[in-house]
Amino acid sequence: MRMYDIIAKKRDGGELSQEEIQFFIDGYTSGEIPDYQASAFAMALYFQGMNKEERAAITMAMAQSGDMIDLSEIEGTKVDKHSTGGVGDTTTLILAPLVASVGVPVAKMSGRGLGHTGGTIDKLESVPGFHVELTKEEFIQNVNERKVSVIGQSGNLTPADKKLYALRDVTATVNSIPLIASSIMSKKIAAGADAIVLDVKTGAGAFMKEESESIDLAKAMVEIGNSVGRKTKAVISDMSQPLGNAIGNALEVKEAIETLKGTGPEDLTKLSLTLGSQMVVLAGHAENLTDAWSLLEKSIENGDALKKFKEFLASQGGDASVVDEPTLLPQAKYQFEVLADTSGYIHEMVADEIGHAASMLGAGRLTKDSEIDLSVGVVLQKKVGDTIEKGEPLLTVHSNQEDIKEVENKLKENIKISPDPLIPPDLIRQIITE
Ligand code: URA
Ligand code: CA
Repeated sequence: MRMYDIIAKKRDGGELSQEEIQFFIDGYTSGEIPDYQASAFAMALYFQGMNKEERAAITMAMAQSGDMIDLSEIEGTKVDKHSTGGVGDTTTLILAPLVASVGVPVAKMSGRGLGHTGGTIDKLESVPGFHVELTKEEFIQNVNERKVSVIGQSGNLTPADKKLYALRDVTATVNSIPLIASSIMSKKIAAGADAIVLDVKTGAGAFMKEESESIDLAKAMVEIGNSVGRKTKAVISDMSQPLGNAIGNALEVKEAIETLKGTGPEDLTKLSLTLGSQMVVLAGHAENLTDAWSLLEKSIENGDALKKFKEFLASQGGDASVVDEPTLLPQAKYQFEVLADTSGYIHEMVADEIGHAASMLGAGRLTKDSEIDLSVGVVLQKKVGDTIEKGEPLLTVHSNQEDIKEVENKLKENIKISPDPLIPPDLIRQIITE
């Protein structure tokens, strides 16, 4: 086989065999196929696309390019949740203990965040003592005993995707549905998921800004998952404004605690129950979504979900008393209220820009190695569709710097208030099941 012929075949719109795709992934991962041929190939894929079989083949070839995590020692169906990324998205912190509290095993491998705000691990590390450096044996034992554990990414997972994603990033070939879908799914499969629930965001703070693109991406991922034997469902959810009220690491932990107590923001609660119900059904712990939803609601009401969160934190060295005493979480030195300049209805709270404002305070990483400040961030007091009076607080900034003028300006520029009433955008846009 020659890479030249494979590039030419795809350039001319041909369909590649599983062997040809495997040849590319193996050769590119090992360094035998050079970047210039991989670049030409990525561009050919970008323009010609891939059919269902090709998408499944590249996903599995990338998944198998490095370590494949074996979770077979954990009893039950391991359902993973993946979000395409948003601002203030605290759902993993809520879902892990919530679905575990009704018996669904959660064996989560998570990453640190780059960009807007921290990732799940950064957020969890704002609980004093909490750590994710577990051996594989401890991880598996935790899940078998308590149904929930979160471990940091280690080992050599999907090296083919790492290399190809970096190449796509500099050759204008990121934005291709088959390439994005296979990239995300290869990582979930290598991490050992039996079934996958995807939260595909749409709107200003999302990777895909247009709803039609988000739907196409979700369909592509669901099709890949189901064709390689991993039951996969996707929820398309709104990310035009931040999710919940808190944006920032420790602030989001506090928000997760409130949500597990049943007093969290309405949108975050609803999305958590929507995703959680899908997970519970895929794991076979409820017959249908309605039953799953009531199971989860009951677990919040009777305190099981919160108890599970404490147990989970303590099992990984965390100080579980933060749950009853959230002031034990890192606290910023200053709190400033940002007030509305006019009265009216909130029309827009531009998610990605508000995320950037939180980053400017130190809540997000600007580069891979930068330190983040776990205590800082933004807490919204209003959401899109709400009314506000001039002089009423829009939000609170938690900061360790006294001068927040620049951040305040950025926030105000990205919150639009207008005299006309507005119906807020639907949170759950669509559920894709096949
Ligand atoms: N996220 C990924 O993991 N891969 C892509 O290709 C795009 C977004
Ligand atoms: Ca939030």
